[in-house]
Amino acid sequence: MFVTTEIHRVWIVLATVIAVCTCVPISCPQESCSLPDGIDHQCKDLDAYLKCMKSLSKKCRGEIGYHSALTVSTSEYKKKCNYDSFKNNNSDHYNQSMISHNENECPLSFDDKKEHKFCGLFGDPHLRTFDGKYQTCLIRGAWQVVENLFFGIMVTNDAILNSDSATAPTKLTVILKEHPKCTHQKLYEAQGDIHLPGAFGDGTTSSGPASSPSVSLSWRSNDPSSETVIIRLSYISTIITVTRVGKYLSISTKLPNQLAQPSNPSNDKNELCSSGCPVSEQIDIEQVPRNELDRMLTLCHNSIGPMGHKLTDQYLDWCIYDMMTSRDEQFINASHAAYSDVLFFEPRSLFNRTVSIFEFNPKSTDDINPKSTADASCIHRLNLSVVIVIAMFLIS
Ligand SMILES: *[C@@H]1O[C@H](CO)[C@@H](O)[C@H](O)[C@H]1NC(C)=O
Ligand SMILES: *[C@@H]1O[C@H](CO)[C@@H](O)[C@H](O)[C@H]1NC(C)=O
Ligand SMILES: *[C@@H]1O[C@H](CO)[C@@H](O)[C@H](O)[C@H]1NC(C)=O
Ligand SMILES: *[C@@H]1O[C@H](CO)[C@@H](O)[C@H](O)[C@H]1NC(C)=O
Ligand SMILES: *[C@@H]1O[C@H](CO)[C@@H](O)[C@H](O)[C@H]1NC(C)=O
Repeated sequence: MFVTTEIHRVWIVLATVIAVCTCVPISCPQESCSLPDGIDHQCKDLDAYLKCMKSLSKKCRGEIGYHSALTVSTSEYKKKCNYDSFKNNNSDHYNQSMISHNENECPLSFDDKKEHKFCGLFGDPHLRTFDGKYQTCLIRGAWQVVENLFFGIMVTNDAILNSDSATAPTKLTVILKEHPKCTHQKLYEAQGDIHLPGAFGDGTTSSGPASSPSVSLSWRSNDPSSETVIIRLSYISTIITVTRVGKYLSISTKLPNQLAQPSNPSNDKNELCSSGCPVSEQIDIEQVPRNELDRMLTLCHNSIGPMGHKLTDQYLDWCIYDMMTSRDEQFINASHAAYSDVLFFEPRSLFNRTVSIFEFNPKSTDDINPKSTADASCIHRLNLSVVIVIAMFLIS
């Protein structure tokens, strides 16, 4: 009886601690962030203020005052601090390039020779982020892929036919923002169920002088199983490719390092290329039920892309994963299209691994899902311990 009373006490103390920790509100030290008095704030003050406020987002969750202050200053920041603040902050770029340019020409804001970053999204969405992370995500619905002061990319992911959980990009929107001397605002919209348009929404395919356009849109058609449109933004040393394979879309972009950071500190949404998918949206592909693994391995290993390449690295894993979840052979071609983009943009990032992760662990090649069985037995154990604790309370 002594032992059970002790346990009883320990449980009461523990329960009290948990209750206190979760119930006492943590104060929101919003006053620690401040803006100089007045209505017309400078961009750098707004920027510092928003960063400070952002750092309090956890503590201030649910505080109406905090959220309204954040909303008001965010909209002020958006209105005021676009292209100009970026220009001022990157004055050495502008200084250098403007010297060699005529007043009326579009200035080169970034140098082709400086370092660039690559990001790609395709399939059941598989993401390769700017900093080289490889993720497979749920991300159903609309998501921001890239957002900076010059352009934005949005994707919409929808359920894949024949699968209750898998999704893939079915709509892509690229928005070129208005830039003095370089381009008007332009929109490029692609949908999985129709051919890729050969022009921006306004019917144009370029901007600037024909000899050296600041914006140009062209077709790349070296692969009969896919359609690809290339958008070049020469003033910011950026290339975007939009590809359609079957009903599914993919996107890749390579841009200067400076544009790969989330440019707007007040943006609440994850930008997939710079922040990756939220942890709650990420999928561990090794946990997928291994439907017809041998057949899918063979199909993906033996497939040859439009440039005569075989799939390697994550692109091989992703092909096998997509085939096991959807059985839709379009995904083999989609993997090759994405692989072609990597070979084109960032071949050095490949390790050329020819054995897939699904072959590393031959024991689990049947339809058993080892991790989730482990999870289930863990839940059983938890259940059991709950029952024991309740029993002890009743005994004491
Ligand atoms: C401006 O540049 C400074 C230093 O490079 C950086 O810390 C700051 O975040 C930049 N601000 C914006 C708005 O990009
Ligand atoms: C900026 O331009 C001035 C002349 O216009 C030049 O003297 C200076 O070296 C330039 N600075 C940089 C970082 O290019
Ligand atoms: C994949 O591409 C190959 C070669 O271009 C083509 O023959 C095949 O029909 C494509 N597969 C599907 C499912 O469209
Ligand atoms: C993998 O292959 C690509 C393209 O052929 C090459 O550029 C890259 O350096 C290779 N990577 C390694 C680690 O050998
Ligand atoms: C937990 O135990 C209850 C009854 O003791 C049972 O009905 C329930 O199915 C168990 N849950 C799991 C996940 O084992």
